[in-house]
Amino acid sequence: MRRGSTMARRSSSAAVVPMIVLAAVLTSSLLPAAAAGGGAGASFGNWIALNQQSYAVNAALYAQKSAGEGGKTLDTNLSAAEEKKVVYVVDPSGGGDYTNITAALADIPDGNTKRVVLDLKPGVVFREKLFLNISKPFITFKSDPMKPATISWNDTAATLGKDGKPVGTVGSTTVAVESDYFMAYGVVFRNDAPLAKPGAKGGQAVALRLFGTKAALYNCTIDGGQDTLYDHKGLHYFKDCLIRGSVDFIFGFGRSFYEDCRIESVVKEVAVLTAQQRTKSIEGAIDSGFSFKNCSIGGVKGGQIYLGRAWGDSSRVVYAYTEMGEEVVPIGWDGWNVAKPESSGIYYGEFKCFGAGADAKKKKRVGWALDLTEEQAKPFVGAHYIFGDSWIQPPSVTSGGQAGKKGNQTEAAAAPQAAAKAPTTAEAPAAAEATTNVTAAKAPAAEATNATAAKTTPASEAKNASATESAKASPAAEATKSSSSAATPK
Ligand SMILES: *[C@@H]1O[C@H](CO)[C@@H](O)[C@H](O)[C@H]1NC(C)=O
Ligand SMILES: *[C@@H]1O[C@H](CO)[C@@H](O)[C@H](O)[C@H]1NC(C)=O
Ligand SMILES: *[C@@H]1O[C@H](CO)[C@@H](O)[C@H](O)[C@H]1NC(C)=O
Ligand SMILES: *[C@@H]1O[C@H](CO)[C@@H](O)[C@H](O)[C@H]1NC(C)=O
Ligand SMILES: *[C@@H]1O[C@H](CO)[C@@H](O)[C@H](O)[C@H]1NC(C)=O
Ligand SMILES: *[C@@H]1O[C@H](CO)[C@@H](O)[C@H](O)[C@H]1NC(C)=O
Ligand SMILES: *[C@@H]1O[C@H](CO)[C@@H](O)[C@H](O)[C@H]1NC(C)=O
Ligand SMILES: *[C@@H]1O[C@H](CO)[C@@H](O)[C@H](O)[C@H]1NC(C)=O
Ligand SMILES: *[C@@H]1O[C@H](CO)[C@@H](O)[C@H](O)[C@H]1NC(C)=O
Ligand SMILES: *[C@@H]1O[C@H](CO)[C@@H](O)[C@H](O)[C@H]1NC(C)=O
Repeated sequence: MRRGSTMARRSSSAAVVPMIVLAAVLTSSLLPAAAAGGGAGASFGNWIALNQQSYAVNAALYAQKSAGEGGKTLDTNLSAAEEKKVVYVVDPSGGGDYTNITAALADIPDGNTKRVVLDLKPGVVFREKLFLNISKPFITFKSDPMKPATISWNDTAATLGKDGKPVGTVGSTTVAVESDYFMAYGVVFRNDAPLAKPGAKGGQAVALRLFGTKAALYNCTIDGGQDTLYDHKGLHYFKDCLIRGSVDFIFGFGRSFYEDCRIESVVKEVAVLTAQQRTKSIEGAIDSGFSFKNCSIGGVKGGQIYLGRAWGDSSRVVYAYTEMGEEVVPIGWDGWNVAKPESSGIYYGEFKCFGAGADAKKKKRVGWALDLTEEQAKPFVGAHYIFGDSWIQPPSVTSGGQAGKKGNQTEAAAAPQAAAKAPTTAEAPAAAEATTNVTAAKAPAAEATNATAAKTTPASEAKNASATESAKASPAAEATKSSSSAATPK
């Protein structure tokens, strides 16, 4: 589970070679001669065309569906769980059902079928390290965006576990969610380990790791340094969130949509906003990717922010309508260990972004990054990208329900009123499939969970674009399977 032999970065990258060769074989037969939109499109044009085609087909289908009675398409399991909702107050001062979150989680039965809202006392700092077992779906952490509860811990990858060995990246996590249908509203997830010194070993310090599918977070803060948010696996929705970190601070195999979020680098050195992992050599990973819409990117003045670097040969990240501060480096993206980013299947694109860091791209973005057309961008820009119609609900559903086991009625008034209607994106049909079709949409997004995935250690000492050469690290295989043995999502 260790993220890798940190300082081995200058050795050869033999381990990654088979992956790249395989990718080349897979893509070469698909390669069209002409670029679709320039840059990387040259090597991935067929996929783009297919993506657009299926979007058009499914857009019409879903529009039809949502127009009629059939518009309500919440998962049956999910709607059943919402009907049986219970609320427990977690208040260290003893005024609620539980005094800490660990105890509240322990009381949720395996195979839980009810929405369980843990109403976290606003303003409280819960110093707890939490693990939400796959056997306990439908859990909500609710607090107050104006006075959020904070869940904080300070492990890093180098922290020694019970067995005397370093816990690794996965083990460093403050809050690990392996169950499905997680929701959070107005909560701060934090890893407050001291920032790793540039080049230091084992500095990964995850604040939140999402390994279950269909997770939605509203008005939350995910705060840390290196590797803050492990967007590990599954379909995830982030709305009005603040995400802070330094190197690779949003990383993983997730298929996720970030809407109206603020993404902030906390360091003056080089920061890398995303390290999306999607490699064709891992079965099931094909559909993952991060999509950002109407977000803003910035950081410490004088810092240098990369929009992403490729963890795997088919890393996929799209930014649309996003404001980019001057800290975003002109070159924008980094290929990391991928030998030929221009033909590997990496899909890095921007659509209608603005701000000083976006303007720079007109002149200097790396050659294989895409300036997307509207047609190309559409499949990514909206909750349809994560099949949101079947599971994204407004945060207001976290309120109400039956009172906790101690019969202390939770005030419905404390309910977030933020979203009166479901936060699906207006400019796209309710839920068009992005890459395949409606049938295929039923499958979990990214199943890649095992060690075939090569991961290197971020080059935190890299000072600028040219310095990223030093990031050509030796990929050390990391078992991305969960700490729980039951790694397969339902
Ligand atoms: C609903 O729950 C049942 C029982 O746990 C499970 O077998 C089924 O796969 C679930 N359906 C979905 C769509 O998750
Ligand atoms: C019920 O909750 C309220 C507010 O959290 C608290 O003030 C009160 O003491 C609780 N009553 C009981 C019986 O636990
Ligand atoms: C959490 O609450 C339970 C039940 O009151 C208690 O036994 C346990 O010690 C508490 N844990 C922490 C870390 O405070
Ligand atoms: C983590 O926090 C605890 C207190 O909550 C502190 O005792 C410990 O020194 C911290 N560890 C590090 C590495 O900062
Ligand atoms: C963009 O995000 C801001 C909050 O960050 C929000 O106020 C605004 O309405 C959003 N604009 C669109 C077009 O979604
Ligand atoms: C959630 O965050 C958004 C953006 O910061 C803000 O406009 C909205 O008021 C917040 N919701 C609540 C209930 O505070
Ligand atoms: C939709 O996807 C399923 C599963 O991949 C496939 O069997 C089916 O042929 C596809 N249908 C269309 C119309 O592409
Ligand atoms: C990893 O995936 C390969 C190929 O699918 C499989 O053979 C192997 O058993 C998996 N390993 C683990 C630890 O899951
Ligand atoms: C960035 O790299 C260039 C070219 O190697 C070098 O001239 C410049 O001094 C570097 N800037 C920083 C801040 O290290
Ligand atoms: C998750 O829950 C199952 C069922 O109770 C248990 O067997 C397993 O040990 C738990 N996993 C972890 C990592 O706690």
